[in-house]
Amino acid sequence: MTNRKSPGTPSAKLRSRAWFDNPDNIDMTSLYLERYLNFGLSLEELRSGKPIIGIAQTGSDLSPCNRHHLVLAERIREGIREAGGIAIEFPVHPIQETGKRPTAGLDRNLAYLALVEALYGYPIDGVVLTTGCDKTTPALLMAAATVNIPAIALSVGPMLNGWHKGERTGSGTIVWKGRELLAAGELDEEGFIKLVASSAPSTGYCNTMGTATTMNSLAEALGMMLPGSAAIPAPYRDRQECAYRTGKRAVEMVHEDLKPSDILTLDAFHNAIAVNSAIGGSTNAPIHLAAIARHMGVDLPLKDWETIGHRIPLLVNLQPAGEYLGEDYYRAGGVPAVVAQLIGQGLIREQAMTVNGRTIGDNCRDATIEDDRVIKPFDEALRKDAGFLVLSGNLFDAAIMKTSVISDEFRDRYLSNPDDPDAFEGPAIVFDGPEDYHRRIDDPALGITRETLMFMRGAGPIGYPGAAEVVNMRPPAYLITEGVSALPCIGDGRQSGTSGSPSILNASPEAAAMGGLALLRTGDRVRIDLGKGTVNVLISDEELNERRAALKAQGGYPYPASQTPWQEIQRNIVGQMNTGAILEGAEKYQRIAQTMGLP
Ligand code: FES
Ligand code: MG
Repeated sequence: MTNRKSPGTPSAKLRSRAWFDNPDNIDMTSLYLERYLNFGLSLEELRSGKPIIGIAQTGSDLSPCNRHHLVLAERIREGIREAGGIAIEFPVHPIQETGKRPTAGLDRNLAYLALVEALYGYPIDGVVLTTGCDKTTPALLMAAATVNIPAIALSVGPMLNGWHKGERTGSGTIVWKGRELLAAGELDEEGFIKLVASSAPSTGYCNTMGTATTMNSLAEALGMMLPGSAAIPAPYRDRQECAYRTGKRAVEMVHEDLKPSDILTLDAFHNAIAVNSAIGGSTNAPIHLAAIARHMGVDLPLKDWETIGHRIPLLVNLQPAGEYLGEDYYRAGGVPAVVAQLIGQGLIREQAMTVNGRTIGDNCRDATIEDDRVIKPFDEALRKDAGFLVLSGNLFDAAIMKTSVISDEFRDRYLSNPDDPDAFEGPAIVFDGPEDYHRRIDDPALGITRETLMFMRGAGPIGYPGAAEVVNMRPPAYLITEGVSALPCIGDGRQSGTSGSPSILNASPEAAAMGGLALLRTGDRVRIDLGKGTVNVLISDEELNERRAALKAQGGYPYPASQTPWQEIQRNIVGQMNTGAILEGAEKYQRIAQTMGLP
């Protein structure tokens, strides 16, 4: 139910009034007032009835990808003040994708929880969500969905392009390339580190189409960010202007009572799925969109990714699937140019509302491609069927595969049998977690050949708390020197969005939840049929049942003990990746700002 007022009409009663203008409880009102006066707000301001806009600050020294938000916040404040609001900035639990041990995946739900408490429990009428590094964007959108106060996201923007010897070097992607050179002896360690560092030349988040660029593009496609804003590089002047406009708009959204529930509809999620295919987005996106949708109360089955997304072609030529990087993406037109191409094919639900009060159709219909080397017109797409396949079988109920990153070499090796062009099979080698993989991968005694299928388990939300990005495994060094740069990888973990491996990942339920992967043994033959969407170990149900009973008798699939209180708490309540890996039970707290009994 919306309670929309026409733009510019002041709200009769803001929720912050329950703190600062409550005649029934003058004692508490005075206490609230004196404490906020403490840092420089005046009594006049606080009693004026101006909307109070939170700035949910994700930038810090611990979160270097988002650190530029500390600078942008000044411009957000100016925008808020210009529009007649009061800015209150507060910290969000830090998340940095590559720095957090054991994995940043653990912290998305923690940042979510803490932000829900802040937005619900303090006098905040609307909020600017400062998004960026991988998990920060979904964490903030999930919290905004739960609380359902007017909310607008501001991307910190990607880093400038990286360069090395005249070639673009992209965040993360260069690591996967560099480690092959290192394994082949073509680079020493110092050369390797220098090569990787060249990909990060400025403030901002990963400049490839990794999870950060993906999730910020999808935040825009969902309608939660100003049109055209996701792709602006962090150091650009436009980024500062955008921060100012975002702050201003947050105030207007409060007056209009334009809430996440007005924007994050099923249409919006379907638009985001379509855009994810066209940009070659990260395999983490289905997890995060499922999480946001569940907190918003929108039913978004994993299968929608295949039904809506799989047939959409790849339009954006960014690494890892393509050649270019973040600056190029912005100059070529960013998200609106991509959306316009999809609108031209009837693939966007144009009536979906966005934060600027207009529909996505009105915002993007006339957007043009400014560089067609970077963003392709629909009829000159880079690859067809760029979305995900959703696979199932006796090893898991659901897993996804990004088929757009299957290389020609890989296709020739596995998918070229004319009688059976979509299927292949081979013997499994099973690794229990990334440590086991790193310890054993180069041991010739394992007998890995070019026929082998590599499995990673114990890497899901429970097994490796938060789910590790480890499914993309390089083959043993001796195979790489023979020219085999990739083997099929299957697992219950995640994979970095910056990796170009055609893995089958996010398998749910995971081994630690006694999914079928827990029963797999090295040497078992496994058949993968991409045409039928199946992955099956070629042993009888009887044998699988026996293995399951034996493993249960031993206490289930073993995984390492928790190292922190939060790891234990999350492990006890987290769901599986096909349904967003959210804290199960949290989804019932929906739109709680409206249930607070406040005006
Ligand atoms: Fe933070 Fe890539 S590691 S955006
Ligand atoms: Mg990542």
